[in-house]
Amino acid sequence: MLAIILGIESSCDDTSAAICIEGKVVSNVTASQKIHEQYGGVVPELASRAHIQNIVPVVDTALKKAEISAKDITAIAFTQAPGLIGSLLVGSQFAKSMAMSLQVPLIAVHHMQAHVLANVIPSGEEYLDKKPSFPFLCLTVSGGHTQIVVAHNPLHLEVLGETIDDAAGEAFDKTAKILGLPYPGGPLIDKYAKVGDPHKFKFAEPQIPDLNFSFSGLKTSVLYFLNKQKFENPHFIEENKEDLCASVQFTIIDILIKKLKKAVAQTGINQVCIAGGVSANSGLRETLTKVGAELGWETFCPPFQYCTDNGGMIAITGYYKYLSGEFADLNISPTARAKW
Ligand code: KG4
Ligand code: ZN
Repeated sequence: MLAIILGIESSCDDTSAAICIEGKVVSNVTASQKIHEQYGGVVPELASRAHIQNIVPVVDTALKKAEISAKDITAIAFTQAPGLIGSLLVGSQFAKSMAMSLQVPLIAVHHMQAHVLANVIPSGEEYLDKKPSFPFLCLTVSGGHTQIVVAHNPLHLEVLGETIDDAAGEAFDKTAKILGLPYPGGPLIDKYAKVGDPHKFKFAEPQIPDLNFSFSGLKTSVLYFLNKQKFENPHFIEENKEDLCASVQFTIIDILIKKLKKAVAQTGINQVCIAGGVSANSGLRETLTKVGAELGWETFCPPFQYCTDNGGMIAITGYYKYLSGEFADLNISPTARAKW
């Protein structure tokens, strides 16, 4: 029997579903929620309501794009943790109901494990198919997490370091907010940074030991600097938007890459991947590729559709759990906080 896995992601503000057939992701459909832009961040209650509206059409479209029907599904994987509890509840209730009605096994997936495994989703185009082999290092940078892990195998990840305060995505979003940019600010900083000078302004970098990260100081450093500048010139931000974005982005990337260098030195593993929403950042992707070429690393960046939250990464993780028979009980509940 073919392993046909439906993967459902609903941990934050993206409703996404994907179909994975024998380890190949054949459809990946995401509905992003625009409603949060006007509030400067994700409003949990509005996110849950939007998931309820989106989930049926998103799953339906994923099935249609894969040219299969619900009765062909072998198992259903869903994001069980971590995330916004109301958002997780929508995906998990939907997955459980569907598994029960189709009489197929249910698979609970940890969102951070799924981000890492986005790196091993086959591209479907053989000439592009350079994927890391296990073990590899992964820097997972999203709106809620910043971690460096060793992926020993698909189901065994070891966390080497993580943020002690804000995540890298939060550092992008919070500084973007200070610069007057709408939520989510990460992609906009990326856009303006492309035409700015990354060395125009210097912001403080934290001195954190080991492989842990800290980003809360950067936000404060940007805030104090701008308050001082705006006092002298009220138009300072508009006049320097591109250079400010480039300098902030440079600082975040510098913090991340320094820790990656340390992780490679410490582990001797030189296959290096990135994952999570911030791995869509063009500056981070370019810097990783450049540093990797200089230092003899093999580097990997997931395709854009698998960087930010997506069903594909849940479906591929579900596939590996399916192969090892790791199924969940129908009375399983989602969990908002869960360490990997
Ligand atoms: O992985 P993700 O979609 O959701 C979470 O699990 O948090 O990551 C969302 C984060 C947001 O902070 C967003 O600003 C950031 O990823 N992000 C980016 C870019 N695209 C998304 N940050 C920098 N540059 C980008 N191009
Ligand atoms: Zn995520």
